Amino acid sequence: MIKNLAVTILVDNRSEDPRLIAEHGLSLRIEADDRRILFDAGQSDIFINNAETLGIDLRSAETLVLSHGHYDHTGGVARMLELNPSLQVYCHPGIFIPRYSRQADGGMRPIGLSKTTADALHRCVDTIHWVSRPVFLTEDIGVTGPIPRLTAFEDTGGAFYLDPEAKSPDPIDDDCAMWFITNQGVTVITGCCHSGLVNTLAHIRSITGSLPITIIIGGFHLLHASAERIEATCDYLQSAGVGKIVPCHCTGEGAVECMERRFGGEVVERGRVGAIVK
Ligand SMILES: [Fe+2]
Ligand SMILES: [Fe+2]
Repeated sequence: MIKNLAVTILVDNRSEDPRLIAEHGLSLRIEADDRRILFDAGQSDIFINNAETLGIDLRSAETLVLSHGHYDHTGGVARMLELNPSLQVYCHPGIFIPRYSRQADGGMRPIGLSKTTADALHRCVDTIHWVSRPVFLTEDIGVTGPIPRLTAFEDTGGAFYLDPEAKSPDPIDDDCAMWFITNQGVTVITGCCHSGLVNTLAHIRSITGSLPITIIIGGFHLLHASAERIEATCDYLQSAGVGKIVPCHCTGEGAVECMERRFGGEVVERGRVGAIVK
């Protein structure tokens, strides 16, 4: 079991510190005893500046985990690999597929990996690890691989497509999360949670067994969710007894407010760049 776990938010949509730059995206730096993991790499390479401001040397990270192939989680991959060319990269092989989202004006926008990111990952011939099923980095640290979509009330959370004509919906099968087993219970880290937060937590519980979920942190992608879905998600969090909830990135104000109303400020801590969750 991990004795010391600390998650530092390097990129989030919010910052309350003028020295730390926010952007639409996510990047988390995880210290788990002697392991140093970067989970997602933001939309740009701003996470490197933020890490420097926070006094974090990212060259000490030995592992990069990518939650899925959206631009706002992978934009800084090439710069990170320049900093540490021996970085071990974990992601689903579907991360490379072209993908699009339909905008409010009806236009289609590519939202997959940039060419710079894809080229950098393709050069990682000996250091990339495909996550097509649950992968254990250690006995206590894992990457889920694809998450079964079991609930009736959850979807990917947006108008996501595999083609610019919007004919084929993108199931975002490459969406992965991580778990960390500590002496307190299980900490869960999510990227955008396109599989649904309840599906994600249920899948991790099917792997980790009866251990309590103590902390969840990441994007929960509920910004377009119905009030019914948000309430059903909170019902599950309540029944699971989740001890701390740190909504970041794409969670959405309505969902955060519902969580705060249901669980209170002791449990819910809004994500922001520079926050350290232990
Ligand atoms: Fe995202
Ligand atoms: Fe996403």
